[in-house]
Amino acid sequence: MAILPILRYPDPRLYKKAEPVKQVDDRIRKLVSDMAETMYAAPGIGLAATQVDVHERVIVIDVSEEGNDLLVLINPEIIARSTDTQVYEEGCLSVPDVYDEVERAASITVRALNENGEPFEFEADGLLAVCVQHEIDHLDGKVFVEYLSRLKQERIRTRLRKREKERERVSVR
Ligand code: NI
Repeated sequence: MAILPILRYPDPRLYKKAEPVKQVDDRIRKLVSDMAETMYAAPGIGLAATQVDVHERVIVIDVSEEGNDLLVLINPEIIARSTDTQVYEEGCLSVPDVYDEVERAASITVRALNENGEPFEFEADGLLAVCVQHEIDHLDGKVFVEYLSRLKQERIRTRLRKREKERERVSVR
């Protein structure tokens, strides 16, 4: 297992659309285990392969309190979504220290493959529904801040670029 570096917004690689996984093999299982380790170490409740610069449709999620209920989604699809919505304050490991409200479908039905390549379906609402939609957006090259106003997005980019420069200055010393 290994902790992978996480891309930071507005890195252009976060805008790439991920390709479907053709075969769920040991390479994908290794990616899943590295992604899970990276997510738990961060710590976070969800991570899409796009965020670790792998452009294949793989997601790990754990919304449990104890962090012991890993959900692996390979080639996930939302096959049904409610018309009613919910607003949640979201954050993202690729957009550190930024939290803002996003409106999404309140409940969804998801189809995906598990780590053994077997298809399964489930319904999600609450935080899990938010998380699945947020992570699938990553696979489609979309970061949650894109739901915010242009002014807010510009402020976030400015703040993160400044932070990145400070980090570089510290590491040069
Ligand atoms: Ni995210």
